[in-house]
Amino acid sequence: MNGSDDSRKLTIEPTPEAATRTAAELVKTILCDGSSEQRHSHIALAGGTTPHGLYQLLAKQSAVTDVPWPNVEVWFGDERDVPHDDVESNYGMAQRTLLDHLPIRPEQVHPMPADKADLSAAAAEYEQSLRQNVPAGPEGMPQLDLILLGMGADGHTASLFPGTDAVDEQDKLVTSYFVPVLGRNRMTFTFPLINAARNVIFLITGSDKAAAAAALLGKGEAPQEEFPAGRVQLSDGTLFVVMDESAARNVH
Ligand code: 6PG
Repeated sequence: MNGSDDSRKLTIEPTPEAATRTAAELVKTILCDGSSEQRHSHIALAGGTTPHGLYQLLAKQSAVTDVPWPNVEVWFGDERDVPHDDVESNYGMAQRTLLDHLPIRPEQVHPMPADKADLSAAAAEYEQSLRQNVPAGPEGMPQLDLILLGMGADGHTASLFPGTDAVDEQDKLVTSYFVPVLGRNRMTFTFPLINAARNVIFLITGSDKAAAAAALLGKGEAPQEEFPAGRVQLSDGTLFVVMDESAARNVH
């Protein structure tokens, strides 16, 4: 089942592999459309495990030449409070699966400093860097060309977890906080920054995501406000939701 209106396009693929291929094609199209010598495009990568396959696809020689990577700036939508060489690091994962295979210079990649002693100051610095480097959209906020997002079974996205103040943050564009359910600190984009993007791609696979996926699309029994991912409602961009059948089983 696929469906779309102008601002939201839903694609349901039979398998995780097919969903990943669809997401990879979307990423390539968006980055090609948004990049040029004169205008770099800005992408924010997602963490977790779902994007591994997507990044590996994008790192294949065929994809590498399809995208003008020398004209792309790479940001991160969230990060764990670990050094970048830690196995838990979203930057480290992206570096191994994608960035090390791309024709990009180190200065094009902007890791999120989530392991600093003063996390609040580090989050403010990252926000300042976004404001200085990413062109502003109609609302005067940094407007990334593409933000990749995953979603947890609890409906969190980036590191915006249910029941936390971060979900309601309307002033900061990047925040850091202690996440009770994890027992760890996280740094993350907030919804005002996410919703200012030109494009967002949710890549969601696996049956454990089915309840949250249905809520994301305004279906199923659970009220949408229980699932933070439902707050991704772009101001004037396009939301692509790419799922496999397992994640979409409550959507039909
Ligand atoms: C992270 C991610 C997070 C992720 C979801 C889903 O840092 O973990 O940014 O938001 O997208 O937790 O994770 P999986 O892809 O591993 O299911």
